[in-house]
Amino acid sequence: MKIRARILGAAAGGGLPQWNCGCENCRLARAGQIPAQTQSSLAVSSNGRDWAILNASPDIRAQLTAAPELHPTGLREIPLRSVLLTNGDIDHVAGLLTLREMQPFTLYATRGIHEVVAENPIFSALSPSVVTRTAIALDEPAEIAPGLTATLFAVPGKVPLYLEGDEVQTDLVGEQTVGVELRAGSVTAYYIPGCALLNDELRARLSGAELVFFDGTLWRDDEMVRAGLGQKTGKRMGHISMSGPDGSIAAFADLDIARKVFVHMNNTNPVLRPGSDERAQAEAAGWTIGQDGMEVTV
Ligand code: MLT
Ligand code: MN
Ligand code: ZN
Repeated sequence: MKIRARILGAAAGGGLPQWNCGCENCRLARAGQIPAQTQSSLAVSSNGRDWAILNASPDIRAQLTAAPELHPTGLREIPLRSVLLTNGDIDHVAGLLTLREMQPFTLYATRGIHEVVAENPIFSALSPSVVTRTAIALDEPAEIAPGLTATLFAVPGKVPLYLEGDEVQTDLVGEQTVGVELRAGSVTAYYIPGCALLNDELRARLSGAELVFFDGTLWRDDEMVRAGLGQKTGKRMGHISMSGPDGSIAAFADLDIARKVFVHMNNTNPVLRPGSDERAQAEAAGWTIGQDGMEVTV
């Protein structure tokens, strides 16, 4: 048994280039000087025929066109068995609206994330006659495609942007933000596109893993502030940064993980420029910078 993973979109919300962004990376991507990246999503399969999509990004239509494995096998059918959501963020749920055209699949998420989706009546465009909504309890495995199980576990994060109140807890641990443990036979892989902090529990869980896709939103916490793009830090957005003593590169350094891949990168992140020092540093620490269309099999 094996797990085949294809990065449908390696960027965070906004993508690269982001429609209204004039930052250095977005300008380079628009000029074709660095590769463009679509928004956050991963396709996974155990048998190479039946697929699950982890997070449905607003770019899913183009992502499916670019993925031959997911092209139609019938008149109105692709080999998609399920979609799983790791939070209710717009970059992870908006693509569900594209999937409204009578494709049968199961929509998996925690009860808490399902409630957020259910409160948005626009998602009733997904007809219950073909789309079954199934809640998965934390730490209980569910078969999301033949031979492939997913176990959701809570990771520190926050509620979606559109549900933020005046006070926002950015390291909330519960059903709102989860990581995914994928298992096919004895092979395991992890997908954690949003995470505020690598706490001891998470470190213990990931230690020794064969493959981890992890939150690579920002290189440094104040990256967007320094670029003049607003006041939000990575911490405020519920994302741990890559660099520095509190960053993910340092936190993963002694975890003995065979393959570490950054995904969900914000368009300001310098690792998105292939020749950058930051990218060289991340790669020297054993990380792969994910990109659209990249496949990893374990
Ligand atoms: C995030 O990952 O922090 C969110 O996707 C931000 C957003 O909703 O734009
Ligand atoms: Mn996001
Ligand atoms: Zn930008």
